[in-house]
Amino acid sequence: MNLKQMVGEKAAEYVKDGMVVGLGTGSTAYYMVEAVGRMVQEGMSIIGVTTSSQTTEQAEKLGIPLRSVDEVDVIDLTIDGADEISRDFQGTKGGGGALLFEKIVADYSKKVIWIVDESKMVEELGAFPLPVEVMPYGSLQLFRIFEKKGYKPAYRLDENGEKFVTDGGHLLIDLAMGTIEKPHELASWLDSLTGVVEHGLFLDRVNTVIVGYPEGPKVLEAR
Ligand code: A5P
Repeated sequence: MNLKQMVGEKAAEYVKDGMVVGLGTGSTAYYMVEAVGRMVQEGMSIIGVTTSSQTTEQAEKLGIPLRSVDEVDVIDLTIDGADEISRDFQGTKGGGGALLFEKIVADYSKKVIWIVDESKMVEELGAFPLPVEVMPYGSLQLFRIFEKKGYKPAYRLDENGEKFVTDGGHLLIDLAMGTIEKPHELASWLDSLTGVVEHGLFLDRVNTVIVGYPEGPKVLEAR
């Protein structure tokens, strides 16, 4: 079994009858959604809150009953992937472009589980490009600011070579930071820039991480 499937299926074990469940996005979350779909087909009653059009499409095909984040009071549990997780359980997300909806759903969740294969566990964040979701209007000004800082910005492109447009109608600028020494400082700075809608730094947001190793999944509780 591949490691993404292993952790996806392990995480689905945390989903219980009657829960409102945040359904993450990406190639790892895909397996969790498939497993939850099977549980629903076998009679489990849950409500799903998706984090992207991609996951909505998958969940609808599987017959998972869905509500939008605004139609539920609270989400009991959200399970999602991540691009990098540092030793102190800080993370980056958005490699799949769904970071804004993922962060909104996570913020209204009582518990958040991230599922990753072992390659995502790092000492320090930053080797994976950090996505910044921006308003199209004025985005080149932001691009220049990032360039001056030495963050090597690049607009995310779609398969046709056009600028990638997120589910929220925004653009993504990926920053090749190399190392992010002070994630909280960087997050505050990005939050302060007009036109930045969100960014892929998910700090102090996860409760449990399930890591896939060839010998089996390991469950880590964040402090
Ligand atoms: C989606 O925008 C992302 O945040 C994903 O959750 C993250 O990129 C992990 O994706 P994979 O599981 O496909 O690596």
